[in-house]
Amino acid sequence: MEEKLQIIQKNAIEELNEIETKDEIEKLRVKFLGKKGELTLLLREMGSLPKEKRPIIGKMANEVRTVLEENIEKKKLEIEKIEKNKRLEKEKIDITIPGKFPDIGKRHPLLKVKEELEDLFLKMGYDVVEGPEIDTVENNFDALNAPPDHPSRDKSDTFYINEELLLRTQTSPVQIRVMKEQKPPIRIVSAGRTFRFDEVDDTHSPMFHQMECLVVDKNVTLANLKDSINHFVKELFGEDMETRFRPHNFPFTEPSAEVDVSCLVCKGKGCKACSYTGWSMELLGCGMVHPKVLENCGIDPNIYSGYAFGMGIDRVTMVKHKINDIRLLFENDIRFLKQF
Ligand code: DAH
Repeated sequence: MEEKLQIIQKNAIEELNEIETKDEIEKLRVKFLGKKGELTLLLREMGSLPKEKRPIIGKMANEVRTVLEENIEKKKLEIEKIEKNKRLEKEKIDITIPGKFPDIGKRHPLLKVKEELEDLFLKMGYDVVEGPEIDTVENNFDALNAPPDHPSRDKSDTFYINEELLLRTQTSPVQIRVMKEQKPPIRIVSAGRTFRFDEVDDTHSPMFHQMECLVVDKNVTLANLKDSINHFVKELFGEDMETRFRPHNFPFTEPSAEVDVSCLVCKGKGCKACSYTGWSMELLGCGMVHPKVLENCGIDPNIYSGYAFGMGIDRVTMVKHKINDIRLLFENDIRFLKQF
């Protein structure tokens, strides 16, 4: 019987050493220590032993059970450790690999300049209003006092939708909309897209952007117009910027002028960028609102007067950021846009 016990212990430990999974351990435990296990069955035979032998064999059997239980427990821990290491190895992440950065968008330089301009005028007490990109021939030309034969009305210059509707060629029709709806005092700016049948080159695009300004009140004079323009030009480009008013002709203003600002590259000294004139040309058109335009909108020109100006936001953006080709603003090449 002692021998049998030793054989059971030896066999169990040998088998245990071969085992690699927890399932197999459990099977082995049942095989040797379970209710019908080898050790249990052997102990049932104790009854046939002489009385004095029984305690000795009983003690031995208990020792064998303890040895086996301890070894099984040890093996279990070993396997758990191996399995855990295998899992950790499989789930390992390399935290030193650089992450993937999503491309983050930014505001387009045109939009930034537009918002900067709007903020500037808001601070000066103007309201920001919007007008539609499709407007009436009446608002875009007639009410703005454009004579029937004005060249800008030509089909080769303007995108007509039908007899009465067109893609606005300027933001000036917003003036008409505002004056028809609101009574003075009026102080508004309005920015947005405008359209003309232009061939694309480095300074022309069939779609471009303007900002319109309109002030109507009692006693508004040309001095107010000049002061407002000088103020915002200095705010936008810097204190040392000068303006130059050249007489011009617009149907909706009288008198009218075009405004140039000092060349940003040479600050007025004269350089290649400004063809040695010292001036960045035609930043905006302006003038005192024509009495006929006020009348067309139901405002009495004997009581009220006003000034207005319209500027190219694309031009302002190009001057401000020293961009030499308008197409860059619309091609949306990431390498260009990243610079702003
Ligand atoms: N609408 C003119 C243009 O597109 C610009 C302009 C000139 C707007 C004089 C005005 C103005 O409001 O008073 O060339």
